[in-house]
Amino acid sequence: MALNVVIMAAGKGTRMKSAAPKVLHRVGGRSLLGHVLDCAAGLEAARCIVITGHGAEAVEQAAAGRAVFARQMPQLGTGHAVQQAVPLLDAAFETTLILNGDVPLIRTETARALAEACGGSRLALLTIELDDPSGYGRIVRDAGGAVRGIVEHKDASPGQRAVREVYTGMMAAPTAALARWVMALGNANAQREYYLTDIVAMAVAEGVPVVASAAPDETEVLGVNSPAQLADLERRFQRGQSARLMEAGVRLADPARLDLRGSLECGADVEIDVNCVFEGRVTLADGVRIGANCVIRDAAIGAGAQIHPFTHIEGAEVGPGALVGPFARLRPGARLGAEVHIGNFVEVKNSTLAAGAKANHLAYLGDATVGERVNYGAGSITANYDGANKHRTVIGADVHVGSNCVLVAPVEIGAGATIGGGSTITRDVPAGQLSVARARQASIAGWTRPKKAPKA
Ligand code: UD1
Ligand code: MG
Repeated sequence: MALNVVIMAAGKGTRMKSAAPKVLHRVGGRSLLGHVLDCAAGLEAARCIVITGHGAEAVEQAAAGRAVFARQMPQLGTGHAVQQAVPLLDAAFETTLILNGDVPLIRTETARALAEACGGSRLALLTIELDDPSGYGRIVRDAGGAVRGIVEHKDASPGQRAVREVYTGMMAAPTAALARWVMALGNANAQREYYLTDIVAMAVAEGVPVVASAAPDETEVLGVNSPAQLADLERRFQRGQSARLMEAGVRLADPARLDLRGSLECGADVEIDVNCVFEGRVTLADGVRIGANCVIRDAAIGAGAQIHPFTHIEGAEVGPGALVGPFARLRPGARLGAEVHIGNFVEVKNSTLAAGAKANHLAYLGDATVGERVNYGAGSITANYDGANKHRTVIGADVHVGSNCVLVAPVEIGAGATIGGGSTITRDVPAGQLSVARARQASIAGWTRPKKAPKA
């Protein structure tokens, strides 16, 4: 649908009490403005104009490539904001949709319906009925029920304040008329602001049809002005995502205790216990089970794998049937093959573990290539960093690394080798042999403990 979209994002957001511009605060891991830009992108908006003001540089940087920008300095009201967009409107697109950078959960379908209600010839207002309409602009209708205008709360009479039908801040207008109307706005009102909402009366005066279309769902039109409202929208957003996952068959122990800040693709029979956080792009194949309190970011978990509680995974691949955790950490570049076991307090970074390899307790594998069925003992580490550069450790198939070993990289352990516990390995280890690199145990017969010297 070819149209202009104007997103107002110049406001300060005083009540957020934050150094960051309001529209850059996040819901579901994405900025408020990012959500609105996604909505516009879904419309295939031909031209997307963001009005910036407070924190303009940061906002423009965050939305770079997704919109063009018009700065509004100072901010003299919503009508003044749209005035700044007028030179950037493409006249070839007869409908202009106005959205708010701080109303993030507006759905593309709702925005499209609003733009279609305008159809390049009518002024279409998105409205909603609220139990408590205070603060909002009220829809004023005549005796016949036709919309006559919008009156701001501060300018409204007691009778008008009783109206529960409010303007949500989103509208779609014929492009040429919108440009003309906003340039003609005055600011003779309670707030000395240029109100965009005053264009409704102008449309009525010109005989342009005004249509009010009701928003399908309150969540779509809620704005963010405070941390409490931000948290409320976050919960609503998360509830929606949880509902969609469950509809797709994912079993959530508690839909209220899942946080998805990105995308989560799940196969069949996936189970997720409470308090898990998913970020970036995560895929869980068929039959994956995620224990309580896991944080998983940018990862692919293979079929039937189990991630036990309190595991942290980032930038990793976990093979089918693998067991990870509890209390494990997979860092970027960790690639676990099928049936790999990673136990408690094991950290894996930039390392590949082939099928069946195990590191069950208290270990570190960094910059390592680990062969099939390797057993990597408790307390063993790869010393992969010499203080300046990283080096690789290569461990062949079926190697058994005892407990508390230090493998000083670069080093290679031949297939089938066994390394005695407590060894510090600084040279390559031949295949199939036992290597021990530690002080030999000695016992000294007849040795006596030193005695305390008598006090003088
Ligand atoms: C506006 C509407 C009101 C509606 C309400 C819905 C006007 C005059 N009133 O009121 O009818 O019920 O939204 O939430 O439009 N902004 C700018 N530049 C400005 C002023 C605002 O970019 O100079 C942006 C804000 O950042 C915000 C949006 O416009 O994203 C709305 O501004 P806000 O001050 O919240 O308007 P309200 O007074 O709430
Ligand atoms: Mg507001």
